[in-house]
Amino acid sequence: MEKTKVAIVGMGTVGAGVAKLLLDHGDRTARHAGRTMWLERVVVRDTKKTRRVDLPSGVLTDNLSDVTSDPEIKVVAQLIGGLEPARSIMLELLESGKDVVTANKALLAEHGGELFDRARDLGRSIAFEASVAGGIPIITSISQCLSANAITSLRGILNGTSNFIVTRMEESGAAFEDCVREAQELGYAEADPTMDVDGSDAAQKLAILSHLAFGVRIHWADIPRQGINDIETADIRYADEMGYRMKLLATAQLTDSGLQMRVAPMLIRKGKPLAEVRGAFNAVSVVGDAVGRVFFHGQGAGQMPTASAVVADMIDLAVGRTQLTFRTLELFSQAEARVEVCPSDEALSRFYFRFTVDDHPGVLGQMASILGGHKISIASVIQHEREGDAPVVPLVVMTDLANESAAAAALQEINELPTVSRGGVRFRVTD
Ligand SMILES: NC(=O)c1ccc[n+]([C@@H]2O[C@H](COP(=O)([O-])OP(=O)(O)OC[C@H]3O[C@@H](n4cnc5c(N)ncnc54)[C@H](OP(=O)(O)O)[C@@H]3O)[C@@H](O)[C@H]2O)c1
Repeated sequence: MEKTKVAIVGMGTVGAGVAKLLLDHGDRTARHAGRTMWLERVVVRDTKKTRRVDLPSGVLTDNLSDVTSDPEIKVVAQLIGGLEPARSIMLELLESGKDVVTANKALLAEHGGELFDRARDLGRSIAFEASVAGGIPIITSISQCLSANAITSLRGILNGTSNFIVTRMEESGAAFEDCVREAQELGYAEADPTMDVDGSDAAQKLAILSHLAFGVRIHWADIPRQGINDIETADIRYADEMGYRMKLLATAQLTDSGLQMRVAPMLIRKGKPLAEVRGAFNAVSVVGDAVGRVFFHGQGAGQMPTASAVVADMIDLAVGRTQLTFRTLELFSQAEARVEVCPSDEALSRFYFRFTVDDHPGVLGQMASILGGHKISIASVIQHEREGDAPVVPLVVMTDLANESAAAAALQEINELPTVSRGGVRFRVTD
């Protein structure tokens, strides 16, 4: 059987999973690739460090040039996290004639333009299925399987860490900080979980998916985003009472005025598939004009789910499938945008407001009058009796469809009322 020599650079969690699949399941990969996927080299920094997988002798090296100078190695999975040296190594691999697989979405978000341009100039290809939603085949689905469609909507739970934290807040009633700690103890969250909980990680992934699905050209940092750190257990409780769950959603919705994009915690009606995504799972819901709605659900991270996507990419590069589609992707290219992003303050949504107010008559009337002044109508209100001796009560208002900027202005005005004792919070509601 024909043999394609491949290599791995970076032997951490994902690298070890990829090596395991290639070494333990060579029959499986050979059947799909129509050739043996031969693991020739694994590049690490320290060859003495104990690794989680037994490699055949002579495979491990700390010298990248063992890969770059070997013309028989065609495909390399570059599985180093962070920006440098991941970027330089990726360029070196491309320049030495390798097609490269990456799972590094942060690298693509910051340097995708440079890397993809260089690959195109050199006639090389980059495969990146694992960079968004880990084991869920969403990149291939959008860029190949759904290519007969005009995609009109994309909504996803793209950050498993945040979904785990919010699910635990809902299940246990514990505070945000306690659930972050639990996620760290279980290995779902990094020591510094900022990029996960503030929505940045999900925005980076949404930018990649939206480039593919809609042909927009947007840097992830320009996507409006709000993190889950604003959520209190009270919000999860009130959402539940009204028939909703709170989820960190990444959304891109095609409208008459352009593409509305956002990453934010939103209330989503119980029973909807996205509302039922629990724990560290990811999910993506895509609507195409021909196919209708399709829903993807699975493990968005973890050693073997991520390795599953990386090895499939290695096979696609080995057989030449990715090379065909890479040319037409126009991802991170200078090609003209097919769709413009519309300003976020024009976006319409229903809103959930929660205020802490003095327990006086007339407070609700004041709020209703401010909301009405901004052309926001109230759909429902929850006000529970005061607890114990507290002189304040929580007041939750659910609105009908309203404009983003009107909702922001109304919140600010209400927060300035002397009867509002703590700044109110505002979340979007989606059915
Ligand atoms: N883990 C997941 O579930 C997951 C899911 C989706 C995507 N990803 C992405 O996949 C990538 C890899 O993640 P990971 O979890 O496997 O990371 P990791 O466990 O931290 O492993 C990274 C590996 O890269 C190695 N490395 C760093 N600099 C190197 C260099 N100059 N030369 C050779 N090796 C070098 C490290 O070496 P040492 O062993 O010597 O420290 C380490 O083994 C990241 O971009 C991550 O965002 C991960």
